[in-house]
Amino acid sequence: MDLLRWGRSPWGEWVLTHVSWNLFWGSLFAGVLFLVAHASYMLFSAHRKRTAAETDALEASRKDLPAKIERHGLTARLFHWVMAAAMFVLLFTAFLPVVGVKFPWVQWHWIAGLVLTASIVFHIIHATFWLDFWSIWVGPKDIPEMKAELLREFGHDVPGPKSGKYPLGNRLYRLAFVVTGLAVVATGMFMLVRVRTPLFVRNPYLFGDATWGVTYVSHGLAGVGLVGLVIAHVYFAVRPEKWWITKSMILGWITRRQYLEHHEPSRWPVGSGPSQAKPAGRV
Ligand code: HEM
Repeated sequence: MDLLRWGRSPWGEWVLTHVSWNLFWGSLFAGVLFLVAHASYMLFSAHRKRTAAETDALEASRKDLPAKIERHGLTARLFHWVMAAAMFVLLFTAFLPVVGVKFPWVQWHWIAGLVLTASIVFHIIHATFWLDFWSIWVGPKDIPEMKAELLREFGHDVPGPKSGKYPLGNRLYRLAFVVTGLAVVATGMFMLVRVRTPLFVRNPYLFGDATWGVTYVSHGLAGVGLVGLVIAHVYFAVRPEKWWITKSMILGWITRRQYLEHHEPSRWPVGSGPSQAKPAGRV
């Protein structure tokens, strides 16, 4: 099975040109397989959660907390939904032609690409200066949480830390998303120079054939990777036990009870007061 496609340059050399669309089907299949495997696993998982009685006791002892706790500010929510819309347009414009739906996709694709790029640049600036930049990253400091989560998965009642603002799974997913997202944006911006747009005069000679080939292949690889990642993301967003998180991406807040049930207050401290969290919020 071919994974990459090759062509002859005007000088007769073999150069990479594109990824093979087999990879698109592979990524689609892997995404669907993942959700079937995860859904089956969840039927049997012994995951140890805080019981209702424990959460009741915690709630009784933390009456100082606001009833609604802000999880995502308006700007962060707008960014999320603009990025999601751009991402769907990009995926559909790129892959509908592969499944046989023919239309002039390139124009819609690069316009959505510019929207995605602008939203990411905006988000980096917003997260750096207004939000807690590190609350979403994963590092050695998370090893105790990882161990505790694994033991809870096997039904053990362990005292190790629960998550801060973002559960470990979210943060690992985000890392994969950042790497593939940045790769697709960086390569896409170079590819834009090669196509006809009203923005500037196209320049297909910016790179040699071999470099263009590597750029198209990297863009294609990151693009097919995003197919699987987006399937996994949507799957988790629609799972009933995650609705409280999805709802917070629409409304912006979670309840005090959800906060105490799912988080380690020392790792995501929230100010007392009528309605607000400390400004630890981000997407
Ligand atoms: C979800 C994100 C994206 C996906 C899944 C995606 C996917 C793809 C795919 C599969 C192709 C065809 C590549 C080939 O023929 O080898 C392509 C082409 C292209 N993409 Fe993207 N892309 C994404 C984001 C972007 C972004 C952010 C830009 C930036 C403007 C962009 C600009 C382009 C351009 C200019 C082309 C070339 C069209 C041509 O030469 O005919 N893409 N994309």
